[in-house]
Amino acid sequence: MTQVIAIANPKGGVGKTTVAVNLARAWQQAGHRVLLVDSDPQGSARDWYQASQNQGREMPVVVGVDRPVLPASVQPLRGAFDRIVIDGAAKLQEMTVSAIKAADFILIPIQPSALDIWAAEDLVELIKARQAVTDGKPPAAFVVSRQITGTRLALDAHRALEALALPILTARTTQRVVYAECMSTGSTVLDLEADGPAAAEINALCQELETWLARISTGTGDA
Ligand SMILES: Nc1ncnc2c1ncn2[C@@H]1O[C@H](COP(=O)(O)OP(=O)(O)O)[C@@H](O)[C@H]1O
Ligand SMILES: [Mg+2]
Repeated sequence: MTQVIAIANPKGGVGKTTVAVNLARAWQQAGHRVLLVDSDPQGSARDWYQASQNQGREMPVVVGVDRPVLPASVQPLRGAFDRIVIDGAAKLQEMTVSAIKAADFILIPIQPSALDIWAAEDLVELIKARQAVTDGKPPAAFVVSRQITGTRLALDAHRALEALALPILTARTTQRVVYAECMSTGSTVLDLEADGPAAAEINALCQELETWLARISTGTGDA
């Protein structure tokens, strides 16, 4: 059964594309047939894929769908892939709505500052509006992104996140140079430093997401 995972947050620079390519690669390495859909007109995931062609490694294929037709575009691809990762667009608008409608699960990377969290309110409202008419689907959760290593999530940030009343994953990514390197070189942290701390973060994220995705497979969250 195909699972469509949308990585959404209309704020730019929160790490959507970084999380998307690393998750897609991790799932590919785990033996899944993975497609990465670049829904951002800026095309960062497509740029990453192009750069990856010089790596000599077979990375997950990236296709661009940057018109708000994601549900119709993704539907015929179900079956050909096990996991379809949608790299979300900047700006809250029809592209984000389209990604929410196409998704079986929504992962929201969020930087741990109160300002960033308040900025996510509209997205959360959109998701909850969708869930209200589709029997609670798709489930959605925050993943803290680009946390400064060695710091704890500030109390005010944690409270602000909790106020948005969506689950917050335990796994997170921290601010590490290797994440930026993988974007510019068309690689992933799993390829650049397979035993490094960033790869451990991505693997932990995968492991935590497995529980969520298993629930979708058993029919409790299917679209
Ligand atoms: N965990 C991280 N550590 C360091 N740099 C990061 C991290 N996540 C993202 N970046 C960098 O921040 C910038 C924005 O990330 P990106 O994934 O493109 O965000 P978005 O897709 O949300 O706009 C990129 O230059 C990327 O390399
Ligand atoms: Mg991006």
